[in-house]
Amino acid sequence: MKFEKLKNTAEKEIKLVEDLNGLQDFSKKYLGKQGELTQILRSLKDLPKRERIMVGKDANELKNFLVSIYEEKEAQLKEKGIKAAQEKEWIDVTAPGEKIAIGTLHPLTLARRKVEEIFKSMGFEVVEGPDIETEWYNFDALNIPKDHPARDAWDTFYLKNGFLLRTHTSPVQVRYMEKNKPPFRIIVPGNVYRHEATDPSHEFQLQQVEGLMVGEDISAASLKAVVGEFFVRFFDKNVEFRFRPDFFPFTEPSFDISITCLVCGGKGCSVCKESGWLEVAGAGMVHQNVFKSAGLIRKDGKKWQGWAFGFGLERLVMLKHKINDIRMFRSGDIRFLKQF
Ligand code: FA5
Repeated sequence: MKFEKLKNTAEKEIKLVEDLNGLQDFSKKYLGKQGELTQILRSLKDLPKRERIMVGKDANELKNFLVSIYEEKEAQLKEKGIKAAQEKEWIDVTAPGEKIAIGTLHPLTLARRKVEEIFKSMGFEVVEGPDIETEWYNFDALNIPKDHPARDAWDTFYLKNGFLLRTHTSPVQVRYMEKNKPPFRIIVPGNVYRHEATDPSHEFQLQQVEGLMVGEDISAASLKAVVGEFFVRFFDKNVEFRFRPDFFPFTEPSFDISITCLVCGGKGCSVCKESGWLEVAGAGMVHQNVFKSAGLIRKDGKKWQGWAFGFGLERLVMLKHKINDIRMFRSGDIRFLKQF
């Protein structure tokens, strides 16, 4: 009678078990060390022999029954678990994948790489210098003394302790010449900063590419040849350019280099300020005072000869791609950027 009741209760209880934790509780309750069946089995030894045989037989049957319903439930629950996991992790291999948005290189990065490649193929070394400069390298060493009005041409962001954000890449001329003996030819790409109002052709942060070629017998003729070759390779076509007299304290004579405005085809637009020409670089023959600042003095008493230029990278890219506003480059407008 007792066994029958236990069997019925166990059968009812196992039906209510929903997970492996519940099954463990069930097993503990009936089959565990302190479980109901174990207690019956333990009490067998106190029974008289005849009764022990009968009760022992019933207890054994109950044990087999409990183990079998336990195992059956365990199999069901495991099956259920696998199905649930499969449903959760189901992958439709035929579904189209998610499109990954791939970025593009910034047009100025692409242009800088192209400029470097062109000059490297002409034997130039690529050199860099610091964005944060001293007044000495940015001005004094370039023959621009403290109170010289020419300093005003470069609107400067001054920092603390006599430092400033370089207003051009020319300071690297001096830094390089302090450590290297001619002959050499280098280009110096990098950011420069100017405290000035922006308009379609002016930014307060821009990139310049400085060029410097020094030797015993370097003339403006090779400057023109190198610049002309650079233009053909950069624009992939012949472009009209001109050298006009200009003034820079660190070159003598000095030139400005302009190109026919490719945005308007020379007709006149907001980029070229209706002139049909866009100034892309300053250049000239290195002033002897700059060699002196860098400690570059020839032992034979003769003078080093060299030329330098400083291109505005944005202006070159604007002409190449007919971009009518320099401010687009740093606008962060993806529609603009992803065209390159
Ligand atoms: C200079 O910065 C001289 N260091 C260039 C130089 C180097 C002359 C070596 C002689 C020898 P300038 O201020 O003109 O010069 O700038 C050079 C070029 O940078 C300009 O022709 C123009 O292409 C570009 N540039 C200058 N200011 C801006 C600006 N605010 N926004 C965009 N481009 C600019």
